[in-house]
Amino acid sequence: MSSIIGTNLQTAAEFLKAGKLVGIPTETVYGLAANALDENAVMQIFKAKNRPVFDPLIVHISSTKEVEKYAMEIPDVAFALMEKFWPGPLTILLKKKSIIPDLVTSGLDTVAIRVPNHPLTLELLNAIDFPLAAPSANPFGYISPTTAQHVADQLSDKISYILDGGACKVGIESTIVGFEDGVLVVYRLGGTTIDQLKNLVGEVRVEVNSASDPRAPGMMISHYAPSIPLYLGTISQLLKEHGNKQVAILCFTGNEIPETENVIYKLSPIGNMDEAARNLFSALRELDHSNVNAILAEKFPNEGMGNAINDRLLRASVRA
Ligand code: TXA
Ligand code: MG
Repeated sequence: MSSIIGTNLQTAAEFLKAGKLVGIPTETVYGLAANALDENAVMQIFKAKNRPVFDPLIVHISSTKEVEKYAMEIPDVAFALMEKFWPGPLTILLKKKSIIPDLVTSGLDTVAIRVPNHPLTLELLNAIDFPLAAPSANPFGYISPTTAQHVADQLSDKISYILDGGACKVGIESTIVGFEDGVLVVYRLGGTTIDQLKNLVGEVRVEVNSASDPRAPGMMISHYAPSIPLYLGTISQLLKEHGNKQVAILCFTGNEIPETENVIYKLSPIGNMDEAARNLFSALRELDHSNVNAILAEKFPNEGMGNAINDRLLRASVRA
């Protein structure tokens, strides 16, 4: 069987021009991309993911120079953020221009925009004359994909091509920010840390848990969920509560885990949180295919990328 995974930019560009769906690599996770200006193409994204249309999509552009084609009334601080963090894992909510179809933004008057930091996808964006709407390339509510194979495993019958850019280097989705009364608000924790944002803008408000807030309709409390129940806490405590079951342990360094018969996945034996973030979603997928009744996940230190990792683990622990 011929694979739909490949590295041919021309093929990817042709499918996108024809209104088809293509899996694209980014530094965060793989995206499920379509022409953001073509409503019919965008509708295919929602269908393929089984995603409700009230959950808006991120628009990917090739450089800051493009941003004023799609957004207006852009505050100076937004330009400062673009200058500092693009290309990179930061998505900015800006007042939308009418060229962006309402379907992309679920009828909101803001559009989420970012420049992804991946050479292949930047080259692809330069080869086409439209921006790409792309959510993470996973069925709605499941774990995000960090390799081309992850995308193929679940969506190969629904998309035309997957551009293989290797394993994602950040491994967790972009941080999403917007502005309220001149204050920078973080709606989703991700690959750009709160400290990095504070260093640039000073005051930052974090509002990541308002599941019912229409500004971030995708911030549902149950998300990134494996099919095997996941429990979050300290491993010794979790083992006391669930040790009678067949369990897998998902931990940071693994240094303090007692000798055990259980499957153990160490996200970063050397204690590097960036490495842990990079491995997180692959690990969750792998453990989700293992023969256990529960996944016991270690809560990370609440600093740097640890905040975003804990956010994903918390959402993975909530049953839909
Ligand atoms: O790293 C990423 O951001 C990846 C890669 C592919 O770029 N994309 C991604 O997309 O994570 P997705 O669709 O899985 O998550 C996008 C989130 C959703 O929770 C959605 O609700 C929110 O962004 N969003 C999009 N547009 C919005 C808007 N105008 N206002 C508020 N939230 C918005
Ligand atoms: Mg997603």
